[in-house]
Amino acid sequence: MGIMDKHAILEKSPTLLLAGSLLVVTIGGIVEIAPLFWLENTIEDVEGVRPYSPLELAGRDIYIREGCYVCHSQMIRPMRDEVERYGHYSLAAESKYDHPHQWGSKRTGPDLARVGGRYSDQWHLEHLIDPQAVVPESVMPGYAFLLDVRLDGEDIGDLMAVHKLVGVPYTDEQITVAQADFQVQVDPDADFDGLLERYPGAAVANFDGQPELTEMDALIAYMQILGTMVDFSTFTPDASR
Ligand code: HEC
Repeated sequence: MGIMDKHAILEKSPTLLLAGSLLVVTIGGIVEIAPLFWLENTIEDVEGVRPYSPLELAGRDIYIREGCYVCHSQMIRPMRDEVERYGHYSLAAESKYDHPHQWGSKRTGPDLARVGGRYSDQWHLEHLIDPQAVVPESVMPGYAFLLDVRLDGEDIGDLMAVHKLVGVPYTDEQITVAQADFQVQVDPDADFDGLLERYPGAAVANFDGQPELTEMDALIAYMQILGTMVDFSTFTPDASR
């Protein structure tokens, strides 16, 4: 009896076929998953990726609270149509300080993983106040009320400490000066050298144009950092992994 004839035994018995399939899938699964437990690091370190500044982190919390992730993904897949539309595909390292990650699962609106720097602060402001005033066919709701909610950054150090607890490498210094950094990021007249040293590439601006620091400032600061930390003109994937 040749090997193909033996295979007929499996094909004719549903029970044997099921048992055989399970065995094969189990071996395949172990081969795929087990090595991950022995790798020291499954995420390639990439230059430029840093923890969020206090204001960006506050903006990220507002993004989560308002459920923006229900309509927006933050994950550009390595496929041609996505890369041509949104830019370089997302790297795992780019969301390594996101707890929880904001990859999302639905795109009612566009992917936001690289929206940072694509539009001006003024554009974001007008769009968030009234999306239809900017994009008439938009189904995005307005968030004008964010302009009325003031922030003082009183709790931001605590929030950073929580992120530190789950692995974000905030230093004690960063947490100590968090509230000051929070205020400095919306004041282009302030001395923001220290802020930029701690958070390279952070945008410093009066994001919402109002004298008060509001949730709108924080959300726009968060929008403007998305996808901008890695310099893709010099980035080369580590082929050894
Ligand atoms: C009901 C679904 C929905 C929700 C919720 C939603 N959006 Fe949108 N968003 C859209 C749609 C649709 C578009 C495309 C049309 C437009 O630009 O308004 C869009 C566009 C955008 C854009 C422009 C993206 C680009 O590349 O042109 C940004 C930025 C954005 N949304 C941010 C947000 C933020 C921040 C929140 C939460 C405060 C949010 N959205 C909530 C549906 C949504």
